[in-house]
Amino acid sequence: MGICLSAQIKAVSPGKQGTSSKYMSSEANDSTSMGSKGSSVSIRTSPRTEGEILQSPNLKSFGFAELKAATRNFRPDSVLGEGGFGSVFKGWIDEQSLTVSKPGIGMVIAVKKLNQDGWQGHQEWLAEVNYLGQFSHPNLVKLIGYCLEDEHRLLVYEFMPRGSLENHLFRRGSYFQPLSWTLRLKVALGAAKGLAFLHNAENSVIYRDFKTSNILLDSEYNAKLSDFGLAKDGPTGEKSHVSTRIMGTYGYVAPEYLSTGHLTTKSDVYSYGVVLLEVLSGRRVVDKNRPLGEQKLVEWAKPLLANKRKLFRVLDNRLQDQYSMEEACKVATLTLRCLTYEIKLRPNMNEVVSHLEHILTLNEAGRRNIDKIDQRIRRRSDSVVINQKPNAGFARQTAVGAIATAYPRPSDSPLFV
Ligand SMILES: Nc1ncnc2c1ncn2[C@@H]1O[C@H](COP(=O)(O)OP(=O)(O)OP(=O)(O)O)[C@@H](O)[C@H]1O
Ligand SMILES: [Mg+2]
Repeated sequence: MGICLSAQIKAVSPGKQGTSSKYMSSEANDSTSMGSKGSSVSIRTSPRTEGEILQSPNLKSFGFAELKAATRNFRPDSVLGEGGFGSVFKGWIDEQSLTVSKPGIGMVIAVKKLNQDGWQGHQEWLAEVNYLGQFSHPNLVKLIGYCLEDEHRLLVYEFMPRGSLENHLFRRGSYFQPLSWTLRLKVALGAAKGLAFLHNAENSVIYRDFKTSNILLDSEYNAKLSDFGLAKDGPTGEKSHVSTRIMGTYGYVAPEYLSTGHLTTKSDVYSYGVVLLEVLSGRRVVDKNRPLGEQKLVEWAKPLLANKRKLFRVLDNRLQDQYSMEEACKVATLTLRCLTYEIKLRPNMNEVVSHLEHILTLNEAGRRNIDKIDQRIRRRSDSVVINQKPNAGFARQTAVGAIATAYPRPSDSPLFV
């Protein structure tokens, strides 16, 4: 079944450019789909009642007035971010009773407020409540509750103090310092564990919107997936879904899903490969500000990733000498495997997790080595020692001070502290 790209409806999230374009095809006859953010289609076909929400003992049903008070009337200066769904506000509730508390007192929450009416927005809101309400995992953001009142649709999450991976990779300025190599590996591993959990669930779940803005970070840089609006129950066995409605975010969608509508958990693996490439390179998947041949990251980087001597051109130059060539090559190979067009050759997320765990072990061992060398150098005042480093081919080991840059200074943003 062919999907014509030109028949797709594009929508750009407010306040962003290029990469946050979400789309769906214009044929809206995929009965099992959960919906699409930013779509201009609004057909009211389903009931919009509390009855649609799966029973979950973990979720609180909030009143609109409560959330209005918790966010100080949705004050513009408490906006944490904006997406295709609406704005996200910072608020406060009491940790025990979950009732509204004074600003600065109690537990911090993030309140996402749907700003568009219609069936699509409601379906996404519902998918989020029903998926996140059922799951609990350290690498999925915790949904505390929701609000369904008249036309209001809101979601209440645990607050993620370090915001999204997107901000850390691409925002410039003092609020978001560039992530170190070690932290990039840690975040990549956490996000991979989140996806693996979904794929391994009794009825596997395809996330369908894996991208850097949907990976949120807690104070320890643990990655948690948010945004289940496009998630979909996976097919059973080796089968795949065939959708006439392609949904996801431009640049991240697997090529076979885009061209044939075949959706499997391996579609998520492709999107994971795109994110891993963004993490390695510090470049956006699509960047119109780059020279013509470099605007599409995957096309540009794939041949370079496959060549050990050219790999350094892809690696984010802000990482300088924090990684070893061995680690970089292993991550590059894993990225290429995730991005392969041959679905069967893509690893599953369990394999991705074990590869990354291995790379992190190498990284830790390497950092311990540097520590020892550093101590030895400190003990001797003789500068000749610097030339006696073992494995001098490792870029990281040419810099004795690399450890000092491993953990960046916490964000200065008043909202993300
Ligand atoms: N629980 C949270 N804690 C802290 N910040 C959050 C939380 N949830 C969302 N945010 C912030 O709000 C921003 C917007 O999130 P949202 O999921 O609405 O849109 P998006 O992922 O950026 O775009 P899209 O709508 O295309 O998915 C995020 O990028 C993040 O910076
Ligand atoms: Mg999101």
